[in-house]
Amino acid sequence: MAIQKVGVVGCGLMGSGIAQVSAQAGFPTVVREVSPEIVDKGLKSIEKNLTRLVEKGNLTEAQKNETRGRLKGTTVLDDLKGCDVIIEAIIEQLPAKRELFGALESLCPASTIFASNTSSLTITEIATATRRPQRFVGLHFFNPVPVMKLVEVVKTIATDPAVYEEMVTFGTKLGKTPVRAHDSAGFIVNRLLVPYLLDAIRALEEGVGSIEDIDNSMKLGCGHPMGPLTLLDFVGLDTTYYIANIMFDEFRERRFASPPLLKRMVLAGWNGRKAGRGFYDYSDPQKPKAMKF
Ligand code: 3HC
Repeated sequence: MAIQKVGVVGCGLMGSGIAQVSAQAGFPTVVREVSPEIVDKGLKSIEKNLTRLVEKGNLTEAQKNETRGRLKGTTVLDDLKGCDVIIEAIIEQLPAKRELFGALESLCPASTIFASNTSSLTITEIATATRRPQRFVGLHFFNPVPVMKLVEVVKTIATDPAVYEEMVTFGTKLGKTPVRAHDSAGFIVNRLLVPYLLDAIRALEEGVGSIEDIDNSMKLGCGHPMGPLTLLDFVGLDTTYYIANIMFDEFRERRFASPPLLKRMVLAGWNGRKAGRGFYDYSDPQKPKAMKF
């Protein structure tokens, strides 16, 4: 069965990005959010991205209009009924995800493939909220979704190999490079990235270097597009803290343990760029200033 129509649940940062790449790849795409305001916000951010692509000459005005024409925003879960694959990108909480897939299970035909964009929860535990764990995979995208070229395609012990291969092919059709990962907390990227980010905080705590010097070291010494503390602000300190805790719970290894400074910053609400403050102060978003602790 080739995928013809795509559903996305969640139109926040990740969901809107996934809906955008899906529509740009030629799939009629339905994206569902809980309120018309959030649907509107997500569609506006897609519109802004598409306009920027036209301005840069990477998309024609006609292609932009066609992409927009393939996108439908909705608040009604029933509108996802006819989709061949449904990708969930809602809040990173297991009960919310299980409840959503339970509702989709009763709504969708048995052939529909379900996918979760979770970054750290166990796919198996989400899949068992349905009666089709064999048609359930992880599809983990990276922020910003329209730019980052990777998608992790995650297989559980219950995933049907044919469904899995279809999702790997689907990842390619979305214009991404799919990598194959097993259902282990953090998959491949966060397994490697999270200890690195936590170590950067530990280096700061131990006075090895300043915020700017730690970031510049990895940018200029290793060619990373962002230093680790800038990346933490970009991903969100609360998000990283949450993922690290899940991974620590799974592996019980120090490298996944949150440093005290991360916990204090999350408790203070200094969650990074979206909060206006993290390792940097974003009062002037064009010129972030390193915080003094
Ligand atoms: N949406 C769409 N396009 C965007 C964008 C966004 N939010 N942000 C930037 N872009 C585009 C720009 O338009 C520009 O396009 P062009 O090359 O065609 O002109 C291109 O990306 C580069 O942007 P900028 O010149 O403004 O800025 P940078 O060169 O600094 O690139 C960046 C920005 C792409 C975010 C780059 O800094 C980067 O790659 N950073 C690392 C991001 C990263 O590691 N992401 C993964 C996080 S981990 C994750 O998501 C997993 C989760 O589970 C935690």
